[in-house]
Amino acid sequence: MSKTIRIGIIGTGGIARAHVAGYRTMDNVDIVAVADIVSGKAEQFIQAEQLGTALAFTDHRRLLELDLDGVSICTPNFAHHETTVDALNVGKHVLVEKPMSVTLEQSIDMVRASKKNDKMLTVGFQPRYDPNMEIVRSFVQSGELGKVYYVETGGGRRRGMPGGTFIRKDLAGAGAMADIGCYSLDMALNALGYPKPLTVSAFTSNYFGANPKYHSEADKFDVEDFGVAMVRLEGDIVLNYKISWAMHMDTLGATMFLGTDAGLKVTPAGTGPWSGVWDGKVGSIKLYHDVNKHHTESPIPIIEHSINLFNAKVQDFVHAIEQGGPAPIPGEDILYNQAIIDGVLRSAELKREVDIHIPQL
Ligand SMILES: NC(=O)c1ccc[n+]([C@@H]2O[C@H](COP(=O)([O-])OP(=O)(O)OC[C@H]3O[C@@H](n4cnc5c(N)ncnc54)[C@H](O)[C@@H]3O)[C@@H](O)[C@H]2O)c1
Repeated sequence: MSKTIRIGIIGTGGIARAHVAGYRTMDNVDIVAVADIVSGKAEQFIQAEQLGTALAFTDHRRLLELDLDGVSICTPNFAHHETTVDALNVGKHVLVEKPMSVTLEQSIDMVRASKKNDKMLTVGFQPRYDPNMEIVRSFVQSGELGKVYYVETGGGRRRGMPGGTFIRKDLAGAGAMADIGCYSLDMALNALGYPKPLTVSAFTSNYFGANPKYHSEADKFDVEDFGVAMVRLEGDIVLNYKISWAMHMDTLGATMFLGTDAGLKVTPAGTGPWSGVWDGKVGSIKLYHDVNKHHTESPIPIIEHSINLFNAKVQDFVHAIEQGGPAPIPGEDILYNQAIIDGVLRSAELKREVDIHIPQL
């Protein structure tokens, strides 16, 4: 009989329900407590999710006083930093939702707390559990493409702007770049082995979100709904990164890796106004190469699967706790993802290229 893994959940909104569903698939997980800053919300969540004897708190620090193995951080972005650092400092492993935080400094602090306390910090990028993402990574890592010198990623929804906490800078930190952009960045950077970002030159706008013609909460909308960036990565790789929550266009194109021996094109699955981004599944993968001097396009077979990616993410966290690590999607890597988002916002504000400084951790 395996040891019972005791879990706490901080933040009880939409994504917390997906975490509960994931933990529920495991016999040896006990959701011991939940916390939500809004009075009464944790109790309602326990009732709605039928969490039985789980304890409810409004202050996450009270939850962290309990004997817990791991904590799911499911708060809006602005609270990821404080809750994560507090959890690590009292010796809990952490699965924090994406994006990692609101600023690079916060992410650095989170990684330092993880190292100092020797506790895992993993970030909730469930598309990683799609086996087709692994195909993309293995192609890039195999050397089949030769030297990869240019990567284009991102995506665009024709009209898919969220509301609530996601559109307020004080709560979300950033808009489309962080909300859906962090997935495309993770896909590309993970395939490349998370090279260090060096500089960013970016533009952002919110012509749709801040216009009442397109958004019912336009008066509260102060993040970007569109962004484009040119990022220099270590190893002489250039990344062209673009994202939109709304636009008058069907697509911002596929993700592509250009190498000296071959190119790889990856298109997202799904159709409709909310599709075209990397929080969903892979639609197709194609290799562009020369065979006997002929320009050849080879479709790579997609793995059809029925994996619940959200469950897989939570299960992997529990397995990592059981095995004593390593973190499945390490904060130390995702720090670079956050550094790019941070650089995009700085560059867009200053209207010029900015350097990215990541200190030794
Ligand atoms: N992985 C995914 O596919 C996915 C999907 C949706 C959201 N998310 C991420 O999950 C996070 C939460 O999103 P959501 O849609 O569930 O948001 P939400 O606004 O529905 O819920 C967040 C909850 O956290 C609570 N909260 C805020 N500050 C808190 C604090 N300091 N302590 C405790 N509770 C606090 C709020 O009261 C709210 O109930 C965001 O970072 C978002 O980007 C990830």
